[in-house]
Amino acid sequence: MSYFKITAVQNMFRYSDHFDNAIDNVRKEKRYREFANITRTCGQFPKAKLHVSGECAVDITVWCSNDYMGMGQNPDVLQAMKQAVEDYGAGAGGTRNISGNTLLHIHLEQELADWHGKEKALLFTSGFVSNEATLSTLGKILPECVILSDENNHASMIDGIRYSRAQKMIWRHNDVSHLEELLASLPLDRPKVIAFESVYSMGGDFAPMKQICDLAEKYNAMTYVDEVHAVGLYGQSGSGVAERDGVRDRIDIIEGTLGKAIGVSGGYIAANANIIDAIRSLASGFIFTTSIPPCLAAGALESIRFLRKSQTLRQQHQKRAEQLRTELRRKRIPIIETTSHIVPVIIGDPERCKKISDNLLHQNALYVQPINYPTVPKGTERLRLTPSPLHTEEMINDMASA
Ligand SMILES: Cc1ncc(COP(=O)(O)O)c(C=O)c1O
Repeated sequence: MSYFKITAVQNMFRYSDHFDNAIDNVRKEKRYREFANITRTCGQFPKAKLHVSGECAVDITVWCSNDYMGMGQNPDVLQAMKQAVEDYGAGAGGTRNISGNTLLHIHLEQELADWHGKEKALLFTSGFVSNEATLSTLGKILPECVILSDENNHASMIDGIRYSRAQKMIWRHNDVSHLEELLASLPLDRPKVIAFESVYSMGGDFAPMKQICDLAEKYNAMTYVDEVHAVGLYGQSGSGVAERDGVRDRIDIIEGTLGKAIGVSGGYIAANANIIDAIRSLASGFIFTTSIPPCLAAGALESIRFLRKSQTLRQQHQKRAEQLRTELRRKRIPIIETTSHIVPVIIGDPERCKKISDNLLHQNALYVQPINYPTVPKGTERLRLTPSPLHTEEMINDMASA
């Protein structure tokens, strides 16, 4: 080999090293993620099976599911999905542009719009995509738009805002005085979107929705709320915190998921007809991807119809969350005090957080995954407990004692 060829090989970019380094860095920061091998057992929620090695499976109780109401195993939902597979097959067959609308997609969008008291709704493949596609498109439609984003907003909202290339202003979490300060610094006639969540998934706290709507009206801003952790759970018909707090008409765009309390998968927005039509026409995340399979639409539709009538289940859900908080307080476990269904236990160190989670799983058959940076700020690592209406008092006592 010539001298030149040898140096060329030696100087070659070593792709593999960069992947190894990336993983090493994550390990050094003690935030390397390992997923437990868990299979849910239909009809036994919140019980599941942990696969330790090979075929061996251990019975466990799941304490961190976002299938908040156990709707993923509701017999009516399952039946609707089975029927849709029989009737329409597995997949949607393409984007809405290519394959058109199935009747199920249309019925689900009508149901969602009606549930949220809006003119129209639009389905996406996930809650993540709904946020990313809608916020990125809003920033392009509105000239010189400024998006004011709560500092604890979900990664999907942050990505959407970034891709919009609109100016971004971050307001301190749930601090309406700071939000007002930022709004007041902008010309009244400049387009503004206030983007926030109704229930913050990692802290379990609610947004001051009414005050945010007051500010939006005062400063001529649009409102965009992520109700991903609230749909199915709050308000008389379960459509979310906007319904509970009586501000649905004052929110311009409500975003939600079909993958948490609704128990299936997919995402959506609900808003005025012209907003939905503009996003439908311009958002890449809607246009260029295969739409959700008809069976998911069928399952979600059944689930929403069930949840709209399930105020007793919602009351039971809140009762269980309060019972868990009471038991944890009694055992002097440091929880973040909230009044929602999310009960975060603060650990404050990534290694300890992982260790406690492992111990609970392997010694007590209780599954709650560790939550580390970047999902939460460093030093606030936690266990995020989400009791469902199907967790029993005995299960709550077991968890608190463990
Ligand atoms: C606040 C928030 N918004 C959006 C999403 C994304 O929803 P999905 O899981 O349907 O993609 C999540 C997911 O955890 C979330 O916590």
